[in-house]
Order: sequence, then C-alpha cells, then structure tokens
Amino acid sequence: MLSRVVISLAVLVASVAAAVPSVSKRATCSGGRTTANAACCVWFDVLDDIQENLFHGGQCGEDAHEALRLTFHDAIAFSPALTAAGQFGGGGADGSIMAHTSDELADPANNGLDDIIEFQRPFALKHNVSFGDFIQFAGAVGVSNCNGGPQISFFAGRSNDSQAAPHGLVPLPSDDVTTILNRVGDAGFNAVELVWLLISHTVGAQDSVDDSIPGTPFDSTPSDFDAQFFVETLLNGTLTPGNGISPDEALSPYPGEFRLQSDFLIARDDRTSCEWQKMISDRANMLARFEQVMLKLSLLGFDQSTLTDCSDVIPTATGTVADPFIPAGLSTDDIQAACSSTPFPTVSVLGGAVTTIPAVSLNS
Ligand code: HEM
Repeated sequence: MLSRVVISLAVLVASVAAAVPSVSKRATCSGGRTTANAACCVWFDVLDDIQENLFHGGQCGEDAHEALRLTFHDAIAFSPALTAAGQFGGGGADGSIMAHTSDELADPANNGLDDIIEFQRPFALKHNVSFGDFIQFAGAVGVSNCNGGPQISFFAGRSNDSQAAPHGLVPLPSDDVTTILNRVGDAGFNAVELVWLLISHTVGAQDSVDDSIPGTPFDSTPSDFDAQFFVETLLNGTLTPGNGISPDEALSPYPGEFRLQSDFLIARDDRTSCEWQKMISDRANMLARFEQVMLKLSLLGFDQSTLTDCSDVIPTATGTVADPFIPAGLSTDDIQAACSSTPFPTVSVLGGAVTTIPAVSLNS
C-alpha cells in the first residue's frame, strides 16, 4: 500500500513536470553534451542511467528487446473505433501499461512484459519523467544498441495521466491476418506499415509463448538490426523448437529458432508479402521505414506539435550487419517466395553444417 502511495505521488509530480511546455532553446547539458532544447537535458541523465543500469552497459540484449516490444504494447492500445462507439478507446503511448500494470497485464497479449515494466518504472520515477515518455525513450535507446540499429526520433512531454487501456487491442500471435490488419488499421496503420512495424522482430526472441525455451530468437542474428528475420520467416518450416506447437507458433526452419504464427502468415499474405520481401533487398529503405513508423507509433494519442523534439539525445547505432543470407543447411529451394509480382531477391547461401541458433541470454 505504501509503495502505491509513493508511486501515485511520484506520478503526480511527473505529470506536472510533463505538462509544462518547453520554451528554452539550445542548451549544454551534463557532461557537456548539447541538445536543441534545454527541456531535453534530463534525457541525457536518463540515457546514462539506463545504458549502465538497465541495458547492462549499452547492450542489445533481452532488456533492449523487451524495451522495444513495450513501446508497441503501450501505444497500440488505441482505438478510434471504440471512441466513436462512445467507449474509452485507450490513450495510446500514454504509459498506461506502466501506470496500470496489473490491469493491462491481465490481457493475454501482454504476456511476459511484467519484468521489463518493473525494471523500467523506478528509472522513470527517479528522473521524474512520464511513463509514456520513458517507454518510448527506452525503446529508441535500446534498439540503438543493436548492430546497425535505427535512429528513432523521440518527442518528450506526454502527460502522465492515463487510464488502463481496454483489453483486446494488442494483436495476438494466434490472430489471423485480417484480424491483425483490422486492429492496426483502427489505430491508423495500413498493411505496408504493419510490415514496417514488424521489422522490430529482427531483434526479438520469445520467452513466454513456449516457456520451456525462453530466449529463442526469431532469426539467427537477434542482436543485429538486419533483414535476416524477413529471409528466415520465408524458409520452409520443418521443426518444433520446444514443447509442441501452440496456435501462437508455426514450424521453424532451424534448431533454436522460433516462428510466430502471425509472422508466418503475414510473410505469405497477398496484402503484405511483397513489402515483406522488399525488406530483404533494400536495407536503407528498411531502416528509414522503421524510423518513420516508430515515430508514428510513439505519437499515438498525442499531438506532435505539443511535444518537444529530443531526438538528438538518442545515440547513433554502431556496428555493421551482413547482407541478407540463407544460414547453413538450407538453400534458395527452401524459400517459400510469396510475392507474385516480384521475384525473390538474390541472397548468398552459407555453407557448412546446419546452423544451430543459441538462445538470447536473459537479462544480459
Ligand atoms: C502483429 C503484431 C505483433 C504480434 C502478434 C507480436 C507478438 C509477439 C510475441 C508473441 C512475442 C514474444 C513475446 C515473448 O514470448 O516474450 C513478441 C516479441 C517481440 N516483439 Fe512483437 N508482436 C507484434 C508486433 C510488434 C511490434 C510492432 C513491435 C515493436 C515495434 C514488436 C516488438 C517485439 C520485440 C522486440 C520482441 C522480442 C522481445 C524479446 O526478445 O524479449 N512486436 N512479439
């Protein structure tokens, strides 16, 4: 009870801080770093703290992946259709998943997010920033830690006032493509933008869909922001990596790799397959589209003109990634090309014994 009171007070203070519009301009902040707006200085302090104490020295590990996932689960619970029907449609990227955690985590689509929310909340409270701002900031920083990562924009100033989002607004991996397209369409994203959002799964792993194999990644390079996810989801699936197959899961092409049923279907659906394949042939486009759609996601429920552009606080990713390839053991004959208008692009095929993919270590 006491901790709830403390959190509520801190939320109130953060909400007051978040509501003050920023007027000051270019500033030198702690450590001599500069930003276009003095209101952004606090984010350098948050950056230093989370890189050291949340992302374990700036790694693209489990916590960075989960931070990216959390940006989606907070923001996508936003439904103009519900609002039009006279119900509460959710507040978008308002931090409600962190303010009303026990309620929102009762939605099965939010399975497995408890750890990252509990890890993150103390940082938001300590630095007196709103939960909505913090979630989007941490996601952008976390993915910048991945090799070849994107440069996601970050706007600050979301209010910390929120209500628990209605359940049923976050897509499930067992949903069919039409259901998913309708859901994200209600939130403002078309079929092509759904593919852009799913670029995120190139740095992902599952922990909770099959909890007998936590850390099982969606592609062979889960720390690289590359196009491998798009290649490997199109390979013929032949094996079950863990404890049987649930409706959330499709057969996998490699030992140690996990394929969500939703990714399997979206990769092959007429409405999305050509954009999926396009991600393999143009890396610069893939990065640009992800940056574009992540900004849109982060602004759901908010008016960009009322927020402050603190994008210059987000670190520039380092590291390089390989051109797309077929991991060892399979060949182009195993690709289930699904785009009828464009041939599958040429990719190299690695030689050697069948690739076995190690799990992503938890919390490292
Ligand atoms: C159709 C939409 C989507 C569905 C059905 C979906 C479903 C899932 C599921 C079931 C997991 C595994 C969770 C676990 O077992 O721990 C997962 C992981 C992940 N998702 Fe999604 N997702 C979708 C869209 C997105 C979007 C738009 C983003 C980010 C913008 C995202 C980012 C991630 C990341 C980074 C992970 C890996 C988390 C980790 O490694 O711990 N997903 N997703």
